[in-house]
Amino acid sequence: MNAGKVALWDAHTWGIYKRLLGYTRRYWAVGVIAILGMAADGGGLAAFTRLLRPMIDQLFAHKDPYLIFWMPIWIIAIFSVRGVGIFLSTYGMAYVGRNVVQAIQHDVFTTYLRLPAAFFGGEPSGQQVSRITYTSEQVASASTDALRTVVTEGITVIGMFYVMLSTSAYLTLVLLVMVPPVALIATVVSRRYRQISRRIQGSMGSVTGAVEESVGAHREVRVYGGQQRETERFDDVTHRTRRLNLKIAATNASSSTAIQTVAACALAALVWLGTRPGVIDHISSGVFVQVLTAMGAMLPSLKRLTNVQANIQRGMSAAEDLFAIMDTPAEIDRGTIELARARGDLRFENVRLTYPRNDCAALRGVTLDCAPGTVTALVGRSGSGKSSLVSLLPRFYEPSGGRIVLDGENYENYTLASLRRQIAWVGQNVVLFDDTVANNIAYGELAGASEEAIVAAATAANAMEFIARMPQGIHSPIGEAGNQLSGGQRQRIAIARAILKNAPILVLDEATSALDTESEHLIQQALDSLMQHRTTLVIAHRLSTIEGADQIAVMDAGRIVERGTHAELLARGGQYAALYRMQFHDADTEGG
Ligand SMILES: Nc1ncnc2c1ncn2[C@@H]1O[C@H](COP(=O)(O)OP(=O)(O)OP(=O)(O)O)[C@@H](O)[C@H]1O
Ligand SMILES: [Mg+2]
Repeated sequence: MNAGKVALWDAHTWGIYKRLLGYTRRYWAVGVIAILGMAADGGGLAAFTRLLRPMIDQLFAHKDPYLIFWMPIWIIAIFSVRGVGIFLSTYGMAYVGRNVVQAIQHDVFTTYLRLPAAFFGGEPSGQQVSRITYTSEQVASASTDALRTVVTEGITVIGMFYVMLSTSAYLTLVLLVMVPPVALIATVVSRRYRQISRRIQGSMGSVTGAVEESVGAHREVRVYGGQQRETERFDDVTHRTRRLNLKIAATNASSSTAIQTVAACALAALVWLGTRPGVIDHISSGVFVQVLTAMGAMLPSLKRLTNVQANIQRGMSAAEDLFAIMDTPAEIDRGTIELARARGDLRFENVRLTYPRNDCAALRGVTLDCAPGTVTALVGRSGSGKSSLVSLLPRFYEPSGGRIVLDGENYENYTLASLRRQIAWVGQNVVLFDDTVANNIAYGELAGASEEAIVAAATAANAMEFIARMPQGIHSPIGEAGNQLSGGQRQRIAIARAILKNAPILVLDEATSALDTESEHLIQQALDSLMQHRTTLVIAHRLSTIEGADQIAVMDAGRIVERGTHAELLARGGQYAALYRMQFHDADTEGG
């Protein structure tokens, strides 16, 4: 047996215990009361067993009047104390446990909010959800269960042992034969448990992920008849979870059986030894019954104590996972300069970007100057790196090479929060929240905005036209992710949000892609006035919307291959001219 492998007490595990204990520190008073309750619970049982011998020998055999009066009172007193103890320990542990769960969930959730964008690409989202819904619960339930078992069952075992010892030391010695096999069982069980627990956590994440994906893609599933594939995939992951849980059940069950067998042998030895000639004459039936009962009562406690390691292992592997996430480095934010309001003088200097887990570089040395208050349009074929370039501005990703300069200062020298305050963003995929129109426009730091300001922004974004038709105006809820709105409506809400933010840098990634020609025309007017006095980066596939830009940069395979105004680029007859002719031709044939 190699105790080191179990790793119940090594330095790393100690660190986890200490950190978990930190979560309970605020509730120590409740914890102490709960532990006292457990002591009353376990002690009460032992005390009752202690009454058996006088009950049999004095009460029934000798009809002792003193005992006849007191015995019922003692019984009620013992069980009343025990009852109160059970309540205090159960509720107290639940109180501490629930508070710890909430605190851990809070910490994991806030960790998610400060982790870099790259983290979210690297792990399935199901894993992230189940960390909050499943793994956090495991930590608390496992550790409160474990504590409760150790204290209550520990006291019960010690109490029973004391009862036996004080009744007949000779018979009690028999018990010692149980110690080595029980220890062996406990070790084997705990080793197996830790392994399985870790795999269950992983498989719970896969279950959550499979559900999320199928529910999120419910339209695709229906249209493309993916029901069978989704069902198979889901059954696959739940099958794995079931198998692992059954393994745990099997481990539990076989340890119970093994303990039972060991105990039966001890009991048989007890009876055999107790009935030896020379012994049997010294032992009254009260003594025998009391030792036997104490041992019988000790059994379930002993069984639970052997499984407690397993509980601790379950909590440990859960806590290990959670603490590892909490320790993941946050977004890089080493800047010290608080930027009040940028002028918007933006320069990319030989910027490179290679995404983590993607060998192919997305940006291969982009150099671009964006003067304050000008509009820079990025065009180029799909996958050429346009979105990647603008995603560097809010520092979703850090450049792998080169640097970005804002108002003459290296980007990294600004604090992240103040930098992001300078940027309004309408992305390629508009994301709205399950809230009202007004709260979606005045989101986050904009939350204090007045109703007039919100309406003005919505009007400027040409969104008021449809908002006014909603039952509760700007206070109408829009459903999860804005699913009660059309794509174009969602986009206009996002534009209103950007207008309300009134930031010096504006990023529009395909902001008008979901609009019809007429709405686009109206939005274009709104955007044109929004772009004034701001440094704007706009990505558009429809070239007609960017003809007026101060400069147009054509991207290809992570580089800027052409740069100039619309007229310059047309005259040059390169990629842009070719693209433009193609679209112009399309529009022409559409019209005619
Ligand atoms: N999160 C990511 N992780 C890894 N690789 C990515 C990620 N996002 C984009 N890429 C890769 O970077 C390259 C550039 O993608 P990007 O989204 O910048 O293109 P784009 O020019 O915006 O295209 P589109 O016009 O289709 O929006 C692509 O080859 C893509 O595979
Ligand atoms: Mg893009």
